[in-house]
Amino acid sequence: MTTNSHAKPPLAVIGGTGAEGSGLVLRWAAAGYPVIIGSRSREKAETVATELSAELPPGSAPIAGDENAAAAAAGDVVVLSVPYSAQEGTVAQIAAACQGKVVVTVGVPLKPPKVSTVWRPAGGCAAQEAQAQLGDGVRVAAAFQNVSAAHLKDLSYAVECDILVTGDDKEAKAIAIELAAAAGMFGIDAGPLANASVVEGLTALLIGVNIRNKIKSSGIRITGIPRD
Ligand SMILES: NC(=O)c1ccc[n+]([C@@H]2O[C@H](COP(=O)([O-])OP(=O)(O)OC[C@H]3O[C@@H](n4cnc5c(N)ncnc54)[C@H](OP(=O)(O)O)[C@@H]3O)[C@@H](O)[C@H]2O)c1
Repeated sequence: MTTNSHAKPPLAVIGGTGAEGSGLVLRWAAAGYPVIIGSRSREKAETVATELSAELPPGSAPIAGDENAAAAAAGDVVVLSVPYSAQEGTVAQIAAACQGKVVVTVGVPLKPPKVSTVWRPAGGCAAQEAQAQLGDGVRVAAAFQNVSAAHLKDLSYAVECDILVTGDDKEAKAIAIELAAAAGMFGIDAGPLANASVVEGLTALLIGVNIRNKIKSSGIRITGIPRD
């Protein structure tokens, strides 16, 4: 996948049946990326794919569904959008199919019941743990941690917050930034994958802001960067 390619590469969105993943699936398909939703259940993936397809404007790319490993195998880029508690098991299912590819992690480690308090897992953060589990044959970038699922499925909704993208591989980050743009968001290179611990932690902070202000989608925006 390159920024000047004409045909859009297929994306696998593991956990694309969920709140966050389904919004991203819809936006990417609307932007012309064929998407394969990954799920523990092929039937569930196909059902959600059919439901989301009905919401797509004319000219969109197709959305399909399959089991996690098969979906990961079908995607040129794999997006992982599952709860942190499910990450290790899900990564084990897709690891073989991800070798040689870029994996974009969306997940945030949250420790119920204190989901508005920053909590870091033993491996540093969810993205670093995914990278360690997937191995050197996979280039992990972390992105989309701070964008609420609340309005993602409304294609007319202009997302205001920025997407902080971290990773140790430049091309992987460039792909994630390209995917942010395709979904109508502004992606910013936020440094190495170790910095994902800050980005993931911000989500817990934003959940607290949402609760205290009785809103659903607070976000963050970086100032000082020229943008169109
Ligand atoms: N929701 C948000 O606003 C938001 C915003 C930013 C980041 N995030 C992060 O993005 C990730 C996904 O969030 P979400 O709200 O979309 O989560 P979700 O709807 O609860 O779950 C997403 C999908 O993960 C799979 N899953 C759930 N529990 C599982 C388990 N115990 N074992 C294996 N698979 C399981 C399910 O897919 P199948 O049943 O189809 O397998 C589910 O549809 C999380 O890490 C979250 O912290 C969420």
